Amino acid sequence: MRRSDAARAATAIVAAAGSGERLGAGGPKALVELAGRPMLSWSLEAFAGSAAVSACVVAAPPARESEIQDAAAGIQGLEVSVVTGGRFRSESVARALEPVETPIVAVHDAARPLVSPPLVDSLVEVLLDRPDAAGVIAASPLTDTIKRAREPRPAGGEMPRGGRIVAKTLSRELLWAAQTPQVFRADALREALFAEPHEVAAASDDAMLVEKAGGKVLMLEAPAENLKVTTGLDLRMAEALLRERAAAAARGREANLGGAASAPPGRDGSEC
Ligand code: CTP
Ligand code: MG
Repeated sequence: MRRSDAARAATAIVAAAGSGERLGAGGPKALVELAGRPMLSWSLEAFAGSAAVSACVVAAPPARESEIQDAAAGIQGLEVSVVTGGRFRSESVARALEPVETPIVAVHDAARPLVSPPLVDSLVEVLLDRPDAAGVIAASPLTDTIKRAREPRPAGGEMPRGGRIVAKTLSRELLWAAQTPQVFRADALREALFAEPHEVAAASDDAMLVEKAGGKVLMLEAPAENLKVTTGLDLRMAEALLRERAAAAARGREANLGGAASAPPGRDGSEC
């Protein structure tokens, strides 16, 4: 890491208490198997590899705490504690925030298993460089042309006969899709979560509550692969990307071993 004050400044909060209804796997997404491990493990592995993170609190689905604990047990180099999640995502985050003692928190959805240590570290570094900001979030610029419909989508998502009427085409220039991790000053997030209970319950991310409380939130463009697993198609894409990543890491290890075996004497430090 560039900045020594970023080292271990943050606690990761992983929201893993959802029921995963849209995925339809018959249980919480965080525990669904992905490239050979529970989905949650991939995020925990990334936080273990981050120089900015010292500990992690996971919000678990009610009655599934011990399975979440088991998924965390195999992760080396990260102190993980588990709390019971709430009815809404923001309630899960608020519960996980209670035991946090560091000045910075990195809130992350277990549904984004492709998060990486450099992404986490960059977000923390940017926040530490910007005393005027309350938070820095991962985001991606939109690539589709965006239409606003005349009527809101019904909860069930079904299309009316003949389609939906376009009210307006929005300018894409200013539009970004918010992702996680979202890194905040812990006090700013605490204060934001004190908002009116209806607002807190409806919040689909934490940054919107911090914005509403008057905090400045910055966006950092995340790698395209930082996708969110919502449907079965997302799960297949995440699986392919994680297997690709594992194969690249194995090739890297092999190349290193090959390099060490053929390195001339004096290059490994011990003989200098
Ligand atoms: N989440 C949470 N507590 C809740 C609801 C959601 O911690 N009460 C977490 C989920 O575990 C997930 C993240 O918030 O990691 C984003 O939510 P989403 O993708 O909607 O996941 P689910 O709520 O599990 O899925 P669905 O909405 O399809 O049921
Ligand atoms: Mg949900």
